[in-house]
Amino acid sequence: KLEAIIFDLDGVITDTAEYHYLAWKGLAAELGIPFTREDNERLKGVSRLASLEIILELGNKQMAFTEEEKEHLAKKKNIQYMELIKRITPADILPGIKPFIKEIKEAGIKVGLASASKNAPAVLKGLDLLDEFDYMADANLIANGKPDPEIFLNAALNLKVNPENCIGVEDAKAGVQAIKRARMFAVGVGSMDQLGEADIVYASTSELSFKKIIEIFSK
Ligand code: G6P
Ligand code: MG
Repeated sequence: KLEAIIFDLDGVITDTAEYHYLAWKGLAAELGIPFTREDNERLKGVSRLASLEIILELGNKQMAFTEEEKEHLAKKKNIQYMELIKRITPADILPGIKPFIKEIKEAGIKVGLASASKNAPAVLKGLDLLDEFDYMADANLIANGKPDPEIFLNAALNLKVNPENCIGVEDAKAGVQAIKRARMFAVGVGSMDQLGEADIVYASTSELSFKKIIEIFSK
């Protein structure tokens, strides 16, 4: 029996995935590291410092910086990112998300958030969605990033629901893997070749259908 739907934020509720990309691209350019949209797929759902490691690896520069310098680089990216998300308004909620959340609530099902982003509260505030969530996992308290299931299990625990009665919604490969490892039903939003491990994949949020998802979940 379905008890909760737990959302990723970046790339699912709003297109901050693009802002993360732009901020990382700026930093990569400064470091002389070529960084493409395709490379960026690997960063989706991945924490700030782990993302930096991937970029440095792309440029063969893992060894070029001390831990302290890496902290500084990650901070630099975040300052750029925070600048970009200042412009977020409710108009930036991706199509279909508002009605989808409304249907979930009307069905008496809980709504949770499992975002690895420490900026999640600021983004949700800009979107005016803070009040929609019964529980938001705090990325600062999560030790293991996606594809580890920790953040989804943390959300289920705090929503007081059984993970097997949860659906997770993700746009990242690592995120879908985290949902599956948490023994939840996975809804992917994006391309089939990235998200093939999900139980159902939609090309975009505008296609999310509560009825259809429930139907497959209940089978
Ligand atoms: C999400 C995004 C990642 C981002 C991570 C950390 O998972 O998909 O691209 O790196 O959050 O975000 P933060 O805002 O804490 O740097
Ligand atoms: Mg995401």
